[in-house]
Amino acid sequence: MAKYLLISGSPRKGNTDFVLSRIFESIEGEKELIFLRDKNIGHCIGCLSCHTKPQCAINDDMTEIRQKMLSADMIIIGTPNYFDNVSGLLKDFIDRTHPFYKAALLKDKKLILIMVGGGKAEGSKEFLDVVMSGFVKYLGLDLMGSYCFQALYSNDLRQNPESNKQVEEIIKTIKIASLKEGREDLNLP
Ligand SMILES: Cc1cc2nc3c(=O)[nH]c(=O)nc-3n(C[C@H](O)[C@H](O)[C@H](O)COP(=O)(O)O)c2cc1C
Repeated sequence: MAKYLLISGSPRKGNTDFVLSRIFESIEGEKELIFLRDKNIGHCIGCLSCHTKPQCAINDDMTEIRQKMLSADMIIIGTPNYFDNVSGLLKDFIDRTHPFYKAALLKDKKLILIMVGGGKAEGSKEFLDVVMSGFVKYLGLDLMGSYCFQALYSNDLRQNPESNKQVEEIIKTIKIASLKEGREDLNLP
């Protein structure tokens, strides 16, 4: 059974949570959906001690989240578009994954990225790929796909049947990626 870790970087129960929850309900296997807003995650203090040892000098909820990332087969990260960037919550999370960098502990781990912005989805897509490129490159992640949605108010995607099509597309990508790993237990639609 594949192991999935889903991470929401939205400070509210809105569109990013909606997309991630839909995916969470549709995939089979070991799975967990984490809401960063519920976690205690401090800023990276830039001590670089993780360059000597793949450990973080700060002991907070990121310690457990990093363990979960290590044991997952695929990580699915969602964020709202804030000023054509990720949310502050997600940026703190990203910085605190630095202990994976030198030791290449997350190399080739499968990743899916999702962003929801109030503007056009194509606009968010342009920025999502750029702002997440360092995270993908320096941690050596295997980016399976990046997807963007347009929605401004917290219930917008829930009320838009068109969004379902794209959510289905993401779910299909996840299932195909899992099949490539020899996970024949998953049933494709
Ligand atoms: C501080 C802030 C900055 C934002 N900046 C952008 C932006 O640059 N581009 C955009 O398309 N939407 C922007 N938005 C709109 C949000 O991306 C939008 O409301 C989205 O639905 C939030 O996702 P959520 O419901 O998952 O929190 C911004 C919203 C906030 C609160």
